[in-house]
Amino acid sequence: MNILILGSGGREHALAWATAQNPKCDRLFVAPGNAGIAELATCVPLDINDGEAVVAFARAEAIDFVIIGPEAPLAAGVSDALRAAGILTFGPSAAAAQLEASKAFTKEICDASGAPTAAYAHFSEAAPARAYVQAQGAPIVIKADGLAAGKGVVVAMTLEEALSAVDDMFAGSLGAAGAEVVIEEFMDGEEASFFVLCDGEEALPLGTAQDHKRVGEGDTGPNTGGMGAYSPAPVMSEAVVAQTMEEIVRPTLREMARRGTPYQGVLFVGLMIKDGKARLVEYNARFGDPECQVLMMRLGAQAFDHIHAAAEGRLSEAKVHWANDHAMTVVMAAKGYPGAYKKGSVIKGLEPLPRSSTQMVFHAGTAFAGEEITAVGGRVLAVTARGDTLQEAHRLAYEMTRQIDWPDGFLRSDIGWRALG
Ligand code: AMP
Ligand code: GLY
Repeated sequence: MNILILGSGGREHALAWATAQNPKCDRLFVAPGNAGIAELATCVPLDINDGEAVVAFARAEAIDFVIIGPEAPLAAGVSDALRAAGILTFGPSAAAAQLEASKAFTKEICDASGAPTAAYAHFSEAAPARAYVQAQGAPIVIKADGLAAGKGVVVAMTLEEALSAVDDMFAGSLGAAGAEVVIEEFMDGEEASFFVLCDGEEALPLGTAQDHKRVGEGDTGPNTGGMGAYSPAPVMSEAVVAQTMEEIVRPTLREMARRGTPYQGVLFVGLMIKDGKARLVEYNARFGDPECQVLMMRLGAQAFDHIHAAAEGRLSEAKVHWANDHAMTVVMAAKGYPGAYKKGSVIKGLEPLPRSSTQMVFHAGTAFAGEEITAVGGRVLAVTARGDTLQEAHRLAYEMTRQIDWPDGFLRSDIGWRALG
């Protein structure tokens, strides 16, 4: 098959890495890709949010299958454009991707399907939102309805924080994403990410992971896209997975199908677990980044078979072959991230590092400047390893980070602290 993957992050490098190992893969293109992806695929400078441009490229290169990595092309209807053109595509329609693009929509689906989640109210004006916050008290969670690149959620521990978040969002601090605001009950507990492939009807659990969203050691400082992850997440016991499938995932998929917008793609189920019971925090319509890196590291080439089966509506025949292993990824980010950071610094020491089924440096924000690899993003590398134990994965991943010579980068040295004890 000729395969096109859309995206340029560590997630897409991991997807390309797993896909390239699968014997079904003939030619592999990634748009726009990055310096690491260029080692195993042809990178093409496409505007991935432009459905017509993606369809035209797919036709010109006889692409058999398109895998959409990030949420922006999903929300922009690129999967709809591809399917309308008769091109097999992995990723939900724009209508189904509302599960990520609108928090109010997700809450509506939870109400309709009875999925356990935080109590909430939905506002389009500041005054009633402020009154609601005052009546509920803190802690409380204020969320912009739309896509806000990870900046749309304020977990307010005090009333003042909550009120100023409401005021900021309605004053337009997040643009159109904050024109509507969801205010939620604060949920206490341990978070985990759960990934389920969906073909519109069937659902196939693919794995669990735990992310580290805060930039600083000990989970301190501002939120990021994720500074590291490991899989599996011990808090996702068999019982919690079963409860999540039965009470959250399957009812959601039934409700989406009932509305005429069946969900096909990967459903990223963000959960809060307390006393052995999971509640939904949020859905995303894509793999997590960096969670995808640990999932792909553990699954290898079979990940592509399952993704392909989801796109073709064959998940009822699919079976995941799990090894009893663990994976960890450590993100190296540009100093300053998630605030302002410098671009263009040179990264050395990558060339001699292993590229194997147990150790891999996935690239996110990298580009070539001549022969040299330079940092061009906030999160730049996802240094990933697999082992029989989490301790082993941790050792192998951090050993690689020490060989990377990048004075303008930083990492968290405590990835996995919860599970490592
Ligand atoms: P979201 O973008 O909805 O995933 O929110 C970002 C982060 O905010 C989550 O990963 C949680 O850490 C936190 N969060 C969101 N909603 C809640 C809630 N209702 N209670 C506690 N924490 C929350
Ligand atoms: N790592 C969290 C996310 O991808 O949203």
